[in-house]
Amino acid sequence: MKQRAYTVRLYEYDQLDELSEEQALLVNSAIKAARDAYAPYSEYHVGSALRLANGEIVIGSNQENAAYPSGMCAERVAIYYAGARHPDVPVVSIAIAAIREGIIQEEPIAPCGACRQVLYEKESQGEDTMELILYGSKKIQVFSRVTDLLPVPFKSAHLT
Ligand code: THU
Repeated sequence: MKQRAYTVRLYEYDQLDELSEEQALLVNSAIKAARDAYAPYSEYHVGSALRLANGEIVIGSNQENAAYPSGMCAERVAIYYAGARHPDVPVVSIAIAAIREGIIQEEPIAPCGACRQVLYEKESQGEDTMELILYGSKKIQVFSRVTDLLPVPFKSAHLT
């Protein structure tokens, strides 16, 4: 029997000053975005910040609604806005952070499955990979590509 093995690479850090200046700036933009989230129902405030290939930073925060399923995660708010504003510009990196009861969460926040699928499709449109920085005040996790978080994505090729 022949097998193929795949390795996922996850880099962990204890604090922000261990990251590059660019990465730290993106994390701080995500934290700032989380403070402006509209999350009166879950009271879980999420912020995301994208660095685009043109150097621009685009932010998103979760936007909830009294009709619960109508809400949207912070990651998709940012990715969809980037797609609307700069349709052909790849996303180089995304940082995500969460705040609950005014406190930045200690554990890194992991994007939900639907967001991973959307991040995957964005990454696959460009030639390069998209870095993910999952921020927690006690632990930071960095993945250098979305497929490390979603190794078996649904692909547009499946539709053809
Ligand atoms: N949420 C995000 O914005 N991003 C995630 O990665 C996980 C969850 C939001 C959705 C909802 O508004 C709140 O957090 C609680 O699930």
